[in-house]
Amino acid sequence: MKIAIGNDHSAVDLKKEIITFVEGLGHETVNFGTDSTESCDYPIYGEKVGRAVAAGEADCGILICGTGVGISLAANKVKGIRCGVCSDTTTAHLIREHNHANVIAFGARIVGPEKAKDIVKAYLEAEPMGGRHQARVDMISKMEEQ
Ligand code: RB5
Repeated sequence: MKIAIGNDHSAVDLKKEIITFVEGLGHETVNFGTDSTESCDYPIYGEKVGRAVAAGEADCGILICGTGVGISLAANKVKGIRCGVCSDTTTAHLIREHNHANVIAFGARIVGPEKAKDIVKAYLEAEPMGGRHQARVDMISKMEEQ
């Protein structure tokens, strides 16, 4: 898969580790995040990854800021984006299976590198389950039209 990755200044080192990890799993990555530790604004990167995924330029996205929350809020403002914040592997696979999340977010100040890799792997290996879950996802998509 082609995976868009974005981050703010709090997650530069973790982002690099995640890129190496994800590419090691056989995926292609596109780095939309900052590579500088100078303070910056996380909405910029949430939006960039959200727009790339919504436009079909990437199959899914990975976002990292301090908590994962701010950058996920920004991504979720892009039409068609379903981004969930995870700090455990159960949530990571369920946001894909049940919520059909096309972007995952986590916090560099919340999870360490090994947990982050487990989270990313659980998410990437999961598949949307469809069925009743699709109907609920459709309800959310409908809200974007109102
Ligand atoms: C930056 O200091 C921090 O606010 C940001 O990385 C993130 O945690 C916001 O949700």
